[in-house]
Amino acid sequence: MNTEVVILAAGKGSRMKSTKAKVLHPLAGKSLLSYVVDNATDLNADVHIVVGHQADQVKDAFANQNIQFVEQQQQNGTGHAVAQCLDALKQDSKVLILYGDVPLCKKQTMQKLLDLVDDDHMGLLTVTLDDATGYGRIVRNDNNCVIAIVEQKDASESELLIKEANTGIMAVTSAQLRSWLPKLNNQNAQGEYYLTDIIALAVSEGVSVDTIEPATVEETMGINDKLQLAYLERWQQTQLTNELMRQGATLFDPSRVDIRGEVSVGQDVEIDVNVIFNGIVNIGNNVSIGANCILTDVDIKDGTIIEPNCVLHDAKIGEQCIVGPFARIRPGTELSNKAKIGNFVETKKAKIGEGSKVNHLSYIGDCEMGAGANVGAGTITCNYDGVNKFKTLIGDGAFVGSNSTLIAPVKIEEGAFIGAGSVISKDAPKDQLTLARTKQRSISSWQKPAKKS
Ligand code: UD1
Ligand code: CA
Repeated sequence: MNTEVVILAAGKGSRMKSTKAKVLHPLAGKSLLSYVVDNATDLNADVHIVVGHQADQVKDAFANQNIQFVEQQQQNGTGHAVAQCLDALKQDSKVLILYGDVPLCKKQTMQKLLDLVDDDHMGLLTVTLDDATGYGRIVRNDNNCVIAIVEQKDASESELLIKEANTGIMAVTSAQLRSWLPKLNNQNAQGEYYLTDIIALAVSEGVSVDTIEPATVEETMGINDKLQLAYLERWQQTQLTNELMRQGATLFDPSRVDIRGEVSVGQDVEIDVNVIFNGIVNIGNNVSIGANCILTDVDIKDGTIIEPNCVLHDAKIGEQCIVGPFARIRPGTELSNKAKIGNFVETKKAKIGEGSKVNHLSYIGDCEMGAGANVGAGTITCNYDGVNKFKTLIGDGAFVGSNSTLIAPVKIEEGAFIGAGSVISKDAPKDQLTLARTKQRSISSWQKPAKKS
């Protein structure tokens, strides 16, 4: 049987107090709904998302993915929500029901539920809680078979004592949904069509309701407000930093490293406190990342040191480089091995050749630099005339004196020397000293200004 996933995401999420749809809020850098969609995709399932409140926002966020959106105009309950998908579901498939605001259910758990399903069995994910207040309760008979789910608001006093709670996540066949959903009614405390009522219908038709529990309760936690979001964020961060330490990284304080994406590390990598990783970050062996660095989509090769307080984005850093402290490495920067970028240096679309140094207070943009070049403090590439961008080329072994202004397009040839403070607007020839500044002179007849009476 094919696998299909129905994700409920029509609810209002008013407790988030946000104009952003609840399921689009990020957890460890990825939207809540993306977690669910990515798992569904990994299960090779057709994905149907039930949208209602802020439907356009949700649809726009997933516009380029192969997802079928189904609108639920009025939120008349979880059973009503799933029923909106009946026309879209295949004739004979297994259907897994998930929630856009329950991000951390593992795909292994989902697969186990799906494996339970056939014409005579459905799968239900339950969780045993010390305090199940608010949840639907799992009602079992004397043989320990599930016979119904009763919602908190409809439960009797004895039912309220049940600690086994409904997570809402379940797997059934599309044929079963077609048969049961039209039979639901809204004669209950909330006047809603409860999806949970299909359990009693299943039992009445001799379909066995088989349950599993997840490894951790966090897998089943839904997010309704910012406190729950913060709780799951921290929990997920712990999972991610644990994984990084299992890969061999030394984290001086794992609670002060945040991973909002995917990080891989080689051996003997040290990561100091207050480091944030975004996107995809690959780090080789023997790399050290100083305190307060933010790394987004970067690749760092063996033996490199990123000193404290650096911001790197979309860059490739070679072996045995030194970056920072206080460097800003912007998109398109590529450092060859042993290059050095020092404090208060900004680079953008800059290729820095092997062993070249830009040690202090520079802006290097749209630049190709050869090997062994030395760019003095305060040097600026003027890459932009207000309309167009131009390139600066700096050859192997060139030496650019401090506070030079390189007006692109311009080429500093191999071995060229530029005198400090020069404004270079024409190419500087190979192995020559080029100076472009007024000559120093002293005026002996000069008089100090005197105060006017
Ligand atoms: C539901 C379950 C309850 C379970 C709990 C777990 C029912 C009747 N109850 O209760 O047994 O313990 O989840 O959290 O299913 N939604 C829609 N359209 C609707 C109604 C809801 O898309 O018309 C979506 C919501 O956006 C939300 C999810 O379904 O993501 C759950 O709805 P909610 O109203 O929060 O259900 P609970 O009352 O928590
Ligand atoms: Ca809920």
